[in-house]
Amino acid sequence: MKSKASAPGKVILFGEHFVVYGVKAILCAINKRIQVTAEDIDENKITIKSNIGSLSEKPNKNISEIKSPLKPFYHLADKMLKEQNEIKGLKITVDSEIPLGVGLGSSSACCVAGAAAISRLFGEKSQKEILELAIESEKTIFQNTSGADCTVCTFGGIMEYDKKNGFQKLEYEPNFHLVIANSRIEHSTESVVSKVKQFKEENIKKFSNLCEEETKLIKDVLIILKENNMKELGKKIIQNQEYLETIGISNEKLRHMIKVGEKFSLGSKITGAGGGGCIFSLVDESNLVNILEEFENNNYECFSVKIDFKGLDTF
Ligand code: MEV
Repeated sequence: MKSKASAPGKVILFGEHFVVYGVKAILCAINKRIQVTAEDIDENKITIKSNIGSLSEKPNKNISEIKSPLKPFYHLADKMLKEQNEIKGLKITVDSEIPLGVGLGSSSACCVAGAAAISRLFGEKSQKEILELAIESEKTIFQNTSGADCTVCTFGGIMEYDKKNGFQKLEYEPNFHLVIANSRIEHSTESVVSKVKQFKEENIKKFSNLCEEETKLIKDVLIILKENNMKELGKKIIQNQEYLETIGISNEKLRHMIKVGEKFSLGSKITGAGGGGCIFSLVDESNLVNILEEFENNNYECFSVKIDFKGLDTF
């Protein structure tokens, strides 16, 4: 028996890091996907193959013994195997179009597509149940996840999300172009989130003011998106980037990339955890080719993305 699922990557348009502290974030699924294939095998083993390595372990191990970024898959497979007696082992294959570890939701898309593909071998589950499983598995590599990334990878589109109220898909479909540039500096979301926690503890008043500013900004952004006012949206992107600078998740390379992006965009900012990873630029269609050339001339990997409205897909 074989089961396949794919899930999109994402960009956080506004509110990364602040979302961990209860502020609303706005996220958008992108048309770059991860596909996971799960199949049952006769051997009592969990085998995972992906472009970041492979893993082959007996089931029933304590998750702390699994020293691999593929831990979430092991967790999912082991959990499912424990719940029944028929299937003895699982082979899981991961194919990714999303650059890994650079803030584009590769791990969340893995957790969502993994949860869907693996659990389907054991029976049907609702999208909500799959999302819960995905967040649980993401917690094996990143304990403090807000859950925002897995949520947008499951449902697709653009959504507002906060920890208390969960997600709400935007009813309107704004029409914009994003260009993503990759610093190729891999980051650990967990360690950047810890750094921000330290900043918060050392700057209690400043951080709480920034949370208030971010909340106001996102309220404005929701109106701007409804009006499809790209110029104003660009200004908000620039403003949000200033807050991210203040909490210390930027660096020289990211600042340079944002400067490069400025020439032909309405606004550029870091997306995701920062410390490395990617920035995105909001671009007018007429400047799409120019900005891609500008990033390439500066030796940055870049590509344009569209919004993915589909989310999780099983087949
Ligand atoms: C990472 O893509 C987004 C962060 O806000 C962490 C999270 O929301 O879990 C940095």
